[in-house]
Amino acid sequence: MAASATQHEADSVLHSWCVPAAWDAPTVVGGEGAWLLLEDGRRILDLSSLSECSLLGHQHPRLVQAIRDQAQQLCFVTNPWGARVRAELAQELLEVSGLRGGRVFFTLGGADANENAIKIARLAQEQPQGAVIARDRSYHGASYMGMALSGDARVQALVDADALNVHHVPPPYAYRCPFGTSSPEACGKAAAQAVAAGIDAIGSRQTAAVIMEPNAGSNGIVPPGSFWPALRRLTRDRGVLLIADEVMSGFGRCGQWFAWQQHGPQHAPDLITCAKGLTGAAAPLGAVIVSAAVYARIERRMLPIGLTYCGHPLSCAAGLAAVRAYRDEGLIERSRQLGAWMFERLQRLQERHQAIGEVRGGDGLFAVVELVADRVTRAPLAPWPQTPPALAALLRDALAQGLSLASRGNLIILAPPLVIAQDELADAIERLDALLAHHLSR
Ligand SMILES: Cc1ncc(COP(=O)(O)O)c(C=O)c1O
Repeated sequence: MAASATQHEADSVLHSWCVPAAWDAPTVVGGEGAWLLLEDGRRILDLSSLSECSLLGHQHPRLVQAIRDQAQQLCFVTNPWGARVRAELAQELLEVSGLRGGRVFFTLGGADANENAIKIARLAQEQPQGAVIARDRSYHGASYMGMALSGDARVQALVDADALNVHHVPPPYAYRCPFGTSSPEACGKAAAQAVAAGIDAIGSRQTAAVIMEPNAGSNGIVPPGSFWPALRRLTRDRGVLLIADEVMSGFGRCGQWFAWQQHGPQHAPDLITCAKGLTGAAAPLGAVIVSAAVYARIERRMLPIGLTYCGHPLSCAAGLAAVRAYRDEGLIERSRQLGAWMFERLQRLQERHQAIGEVRGGDGLFAVVELVADRVTRAPLAPWPQTPPALAALLRDALAQGLSLASRGNLIILAPPLVIAQDELADAIERLDALLAHHLSR
């Protein structure tokens, strides 16, 4: 009998973030909306947008058409040269990001967007190797600088963050506040204050930038509302550039074009990095959006940035079609409304399941369900970042039943495509209810 496509994969491909000998994932052959089609003919409802990136669902016709049209016209222009589609996308991004008058540098994805944002910030600050402050329980990518920036237990031993002048502070994790307060607002402010204390300890003239996820992140922190405005004020007071890593939170994931916007224009960052939703994952692309003020400080400098394929026209065409689809289909607002509805449904689940310690998020179609061994003491089901066996079994069962959920440690992360139908989402939450009852009831 001929080997299946899955067997060919296992025999030839290394996959990311898994143990090769234990690789056992589905092989996808197609998709439509929030559904994925597998090689064995089964359909999977995608509640994670794959890696929280297929915000427009799978095989969105406008994206497919845009890539097709661009390929017909022009596949590639080197990054130092001009490409009309790239400039059109940059103009759209400057418009929706609130950084009008700035500039956009296109990358291949999120990690190199963050690397280039750090380079640009250091150039603008005239601190070629200036300090950068990031936080624990963050994720900024798996390149070496990305790992150094990330407060991610899985990769910390692989890189010497100090050598790259990257320093970490405790996160605004209100459910287990590292500053010992039970008030989310106070926790958010204390976390911002910890960044300020970090800058003061290093010296504001030696600190080039602070990089933070304003809302959704793959390590499951959702900062309280007090965090970002305080962080903006404290970094501005010290003349340190603030980089918003919106790789996951951008393009409607948190109910706004960019998550920081929920705090109002006075709290705009100096640089924004984005990827994932930028093309709805139809082609690889990231971007660094630079404010007008930062641009003014680098416009006469040589920029030592970029990889050969940065700002690839095929990807930019997908990006332009994606931005227009978010706008024309009202998906940013839809995420806000459906996200609030999803959040309320998840809170109802919390009432029924003792294993749910907290549900957070809900500003858009993004929520984190944190599982605990004891709701009163908040004892985790397994020490971070281990996945508890009961959750691993729940996830396996979900997939076997045709439901794909993202998870990390003790967390179930819900991040469906913004185009998911409400009844599909309702059905998924009902199934999650049954799965929790089966695997985690006590
Ligand atoms: C907040 C954040 N930043 C950066 C990255 C890295 O992006 P990429 O995998 O495209 O390099 C991710 C990926 O999950 C992310 O969630």
